Amino acid sequence: MAKSRIFVLVGGICKESLNQKLFEFFREEAEAAMEFDRFDIASLPFFSQDIENDPPSSVTDFKARAKSCDGVLIITPEYNRSFPGVLKNALDWGTRPYGQNLWSGKPAGLIGTSPGAIGTFGAQNHLRQVLSFLDLRTMSQPEFYFSFPKELEGGKLPPASLAFLKKYVEKFQEWIERH
Ligand SMILES: Cc1cc2nc3c(=O)[nH]c(=O)nc-3n(C[C@H](O)[C@H](O)[C@H](O)COP(=O)(O)O)c2cc1C
Repeated sequence: MAKSRIFVLVGGICKESLNQKLFEFFREEAEAAMEFDRFDIASLPFFSQDIENDPPSSVTDFKARAKSCDGVLIITPEYNRSFPGVLKNALDWGTRPYGQNLWSGKPAGLIGTSPGAIGTFGAQNHLRQVLSFLDLRTMSQPEFYFSFPKELEGGKLPPASLAFLKKYVEKFQEWIERH
């Protein structure tokens, strides 16, 4: 069976991003069944209606790659109990010009990590409202909030976290196939 093609948006854009690390762990667990296309959302300009009809090549590339995927994986940090503006900017680009929302009907997964105790619950809670309006079919269960440990022994996730990640990947694959 062909692998599902998953478009990936990671809301953490710094070099040592914990959410980029989480994506690497996710990829390791999922790459037997899925092929990932991570888009560097920092390459997109700020959205403006002045340029939506004639956007730069980073935007046309973004749209072409997002349109051709079987599903979307969003990995969000938490900024002040919400999700980062740079992620909202990328999502907004995918909805314009008016009437050309490329997200509509696509299955999606939402995960995230922060060093904080609630592991991005605040961010995901806000983001779900937006994803619903975008008509993304975001998997509801299991939810995935992850408090990133201060240190990773041997560079690996703790066994319980890894087991949970495996379960999430399995459910996400089923979700993609069902749509
Ligand atoms: C502007 C800003 C606001 C933040 N707000 C929160 C927050 O509300 N909750 C939280 O758990 N962590 C918060 N943090 C800490 C981030 O979770 C932490 O910096 C994390 O590493 C960001 O994700 P990243 O490493 O993938 O970029 C905040 C960080 C920044 C820079």
